[in-house]
Amino acid sequence: MARQREFTEKIHDIHRARGRTPLAMVDTFGCQQNVADSQHILGMLRDMGCDFTDDPARADIVVMNTCAIRDHAEKRVYGTLGALTHTKKANPEQIICLCGCMAQRPEVARKVRESYRHVDLVFGPQALWKFPELLYQVYTRRGRVFSVENEHGSIAEGMPVVREGRVRAWVSIMYGCNNFCSYCIVPYVRGRERSRSPEKIVEEVRQLAAEGYKEITLLGQNVNSYGKDLDCGVDFSDLLAEIAGLPGDFLVRFMTSHPRDAGPKLFDTMARFPKIAKQLHLPVQCGSDRVLKAMNRHYNRQQYLELVDYARKVMPELVLTSDVIVGFPGETEAEFEETVTLIRQVRYDALFTFIYSPRPGTPAASLPDPATRQEKNQWFDRLCAAQNAISEEKHRAYVGKTLRVLVDGTDGDLLTARTEGGRLVRLTGDAGLIGRFCQVKIDGATTWSLTGTLAAE
Ligand code: SAH
Ligand code: SF4
Ligand code: F3S
Repeated sequence: MARQREFTEKIHDIHRARGRTPLAMVDTFGCQQNVADSQHILGMLRDMGCDFTDDPARADIVVMNTCAIRDHAEKRVYGTLGALTHTKKANPEQIICLCGCMAQRPEVARKVRESYRHVDLVFGPQALWKFPELLYQVYTRRGRVFSVENEHGSIAEGMPVVREGRVRAWVSIMYGCNNFCSYCIVPYVRGRERSRSPEKIVEEVRQLAAEGYKEITLLGQNVNSYGKDLDCGVDFSDLLAEIAGLPGDFLVRFMTSHPRDAGPKLFDTMARFPKIAKQLHLPVQCGSDRVLKAMNRHYNRQQYLELVDYARKVMPELVLTSDVIVGFPGETEAEFEETVTLIRQVRYDALFTFIYSPRPGTPAASLPDPATRQEKNQWFDRLCAAQNAISEEKHRAYVGKTLRVLVDGTDGDLLTARTEGGRLVRLTGDAGLIGRFCQVKIDGATTWSLTGTLAAE
């Protein structure tokens, strides 16, 4: 990292010599992990003397932090990348960087090398910390730079960061994934699981709380396997407990939990500490045991349901959300129906539903997939309709209740806030309330959100 700071300084010198402040734009696709990574990229760019813009036509440096989870995500990136040929034509000095999960896919790197020649720098998520060095190579060699080797991926501590706002902060606690769910690209692009040391994480959260951040979300592809690679006797529940014991008025959330590794110790810890939000994202993916096995998920329907029962027993107010994939290769209509019965049985507060998208190189991509796209679309619509009815009923049950919410921003003339369970609330009030916990009486509900009015403390 010390070396990277030297490169940052050298780039800063180059920028100073130009006599005007360069503008940088960072465009982020994908999950919260990418959002958190982008905040580090912004931090590095700031330290190189850049200001920021949202307009690619004005940017001297464009960084696209990409996602490879579904084909659709990649198509969007290629679309945006194509549009950048025009900005580059208008400003040949513009530097275009492609990073994130797509960049780590060999096919993508090849395609960019051959067909997207206006891209100057390509680097994968495991090379994020080396961004200053790589950018310096682009500046000094005036050639294209590719850094996409599948490295083990070390953990870089002390990367600069520019956070968005002063209310909510993301903290990556681990990188990579070892699960190899048969449909998923993440383990191939993000490498093996690496946990940050508990001391560093606790210190970062302590500081965020001291700076007044009110909601801190711990991030990892599978937070429940935190610490397994460290051999220091600290597991995720221990880490959470330590964080929840820090001084300050804040809430801690986390994502994502894998049902295979989540269990009573985690739920008991959540129940015990008021600072841990009673919210759990526990992706089930589907309701059929045969499909779960083919997905390599390592739990069955019954085990999942028992997990949910336990969590709700110790946290009756728990807000529970999930991810579902519709149309995994070979899934039959009867198996799909098992997912519908499962979501009716669990009654999630919200559900994120995806149609299966084959990812080259993953085991599922070579399985026979006889269901048609049209069939899958119909299943998808059916599942969404079933869940929307449940979400709406659940939201309606809030009406008349007074809840503590964290006001976090504005939407038009209204304030936006989140309940402890993460439900969106809109209310009227003064922007001075942003960053404060308030009591709000809920007076309206839709499938997606709640409305409320401030109640006396
Ligand atoms: N690590 C997290 C989430 C990773 S990706 C977890 O294990 O839950 C977020 C979601 O995208 C997954 O939960 C899954 O539902 C979905 N997803 C992953 N790969 C997919 C694919 N090939 N096609 C469709 N959806 C996919
Ligand atoms: Fe992908 Fe499974 Fe890892 Fe989640 S746990 S990132 S779905 S391989
Ligand atoms: Fe996408 Fe990478 Fe996240 S593939 S979902 S940005 S881990």
